[in-house]
Amino acid sequence: MKNHRLPTDLPTDLDAILTSIWKAFEVGVREAGHPFHTPVVATAGLADCDARVVVLRRASPDRRELAFHTDARAPKVRLLQACHTTAWVFYDPAGRIQVRAKGNTVVHQGDAVAEAAWARTRLMSRRCYLAELAPSTPSDTPSSGLPPALVERSPTAEESEAGFVNFAVCVTEVIRLDWLQLAARGHRRAAFTWDDHAAGWRGHWLTP
Ligand SMILES: Cc1cc2nc3c(=O)[nH]c(=O)nc-3n(C[C@H](O)[C@H](O)[C@H](O)COP(=O)(O)O)c2cc1C
Repeated sequence: MKNHRLPTDLPTDLDAILTSIWKAFEVGVREAGHPFHTPVVATAGLADCDARVVVLRRASPDRRELAFHTDARAPKVRLLQACHTTAWVFYDPAGRIQVRAKGNTVVHQGDAVAEAAWARTRLMSRRCYLAELAPSTPSDTPSSGLPPALVERSPTAEESEAGFVNFAVCVTEVIRLDWLQLAARGHRRAAFTWDDHAAGWRGHWLTP
């Protein structure tokens, strides 16, 4: 007979939820198959807003940082620099968990942060930064924007270095986390706000 009893293991511990969020971010960085590997990052302007999928490249619980890489010429860079707050959205369908993170984003280009991240990138990833025209440049024909010689192959290490000038690391210092778990017995929602004065997170439950 089918068991209609609903699961009883809904979380009750805010600290455990906070730990699980950062753990999931860290797994998302490491595992390309994890749903947190490709969050959506949203920006707002005065009269417009935009959102796009990125690859989560770094999550540092101690520094409260989330980072992705982009082409410094992309429109989103100007939006990230202009707007005070960036919002990240993650969804794990298996756990039915949504996490939203918010904070100010600093764009690192040509500095020590960018150099350290560039050193860890693979040659195939570096290829994106060798596109001749800036991302979002209109084109009369369908085009990858890549130099023709690189359409079918990775750049060599030497060729790839020309891309560094276009490489940017966007680092959000998270000040707010919003966690939602969908459940048949009633959803659960919690929020965590960074308290600068106490140098710690303040967690509280929210009505979903
Ligand atoms: C799975 C996936 C991963 C992506 N990862 C990145 C990324 O890490 N960085 C990036 O700049 N764009 C990434 N993109 C492309 C962006 O979603 C977006 O189309 C592009 O960057 C242009 O955004 P913009 O017009 O806001 O600058 C990714 C797209 C997909 C579908």
